[in-house]
Amino acid sequence: MKKIQISPSILSADFSQLGNEIKRLEEGGADMIHVDVMDGHFVPNLTIGPPVIKSLKKHTKLPFDVHLMIDPVHKYIKDYSDAGADIITFHPEATENISETINLIKSLNKKVGVSLNPDTEIAAAEKYLDKIELILIMSVYPGFGGQKFISDVIQKIKDLDKIRKERKLNFKIEIDGGINFETSKIAINAGVDILVSGTTIFKENNGDLKKNIKTLKQI
Ligand code: DX5
Ligand code: ZN
Repeated sequence: MKKIQISPSILSADFSQLGNEIKRLEEGGADMIHVDVMDGHFVPNLTIGPPVIKSLKKHTKLPFDVHLMIDPVHKYIKDYSDAGADIITFHPEATENISETINLIKSLNKKVGVSLNPDTEIAAAEKYLDKIELILIMSVYPGFGGQKFISDVIQKIKDLDKIRKERKLNFKIEIDGGINFETSKIAINAGVDILVSGTTIFKENNGDLKKNIKTLKQI
């Protein structure tokens, strides 16, 4: 059986205690830390940038899965790499040249992710699938935690999983938005490898991170 990884989104954490929250996630069995970077322009919300990421790195050995919702993205890639991002994910709409942005991330020895919004088709990333490590399927419109899962994206996951098998590619499929103990199963069955979750991990079962992470991993 394939191993499911959990990438908790710190968007739902207590921002006054982020260092401790990250430590708690590591102790709770998280596989990586999902950092939602929003610019108030590409998405209608504003979060954190490189200095905060840099200071949070000290609190964990887990990889940082940095989801950039910023436009233009290209000129900021190096800042996020220097700050300690291990996976750098961008949206194709936010760069003038997708290949150049992929190559830049690779040249910094970081893993590359491309994210598809609910109404962005696979075609936007298809010719890069052999060059990237991750495809991040948005199952909500990015901007806020706590939104309802858009089940239409399941077909996109199934299609990507099929392409991956047919072409013998190695990219991972990650899903982000509205993941709870039911939608997690639907996503895993469709082919997802990594679940992002904010609300469920931090709020269910009175914030029992370990229990919530373990439950999300169950098929
Ligand atoms: C949405 C973010 C997500 C979000 C997930 O723009 O990219 O990572 O925080 O949060 P939940 O799990 O609450 O949907
Ligand atoms: Zn995200």
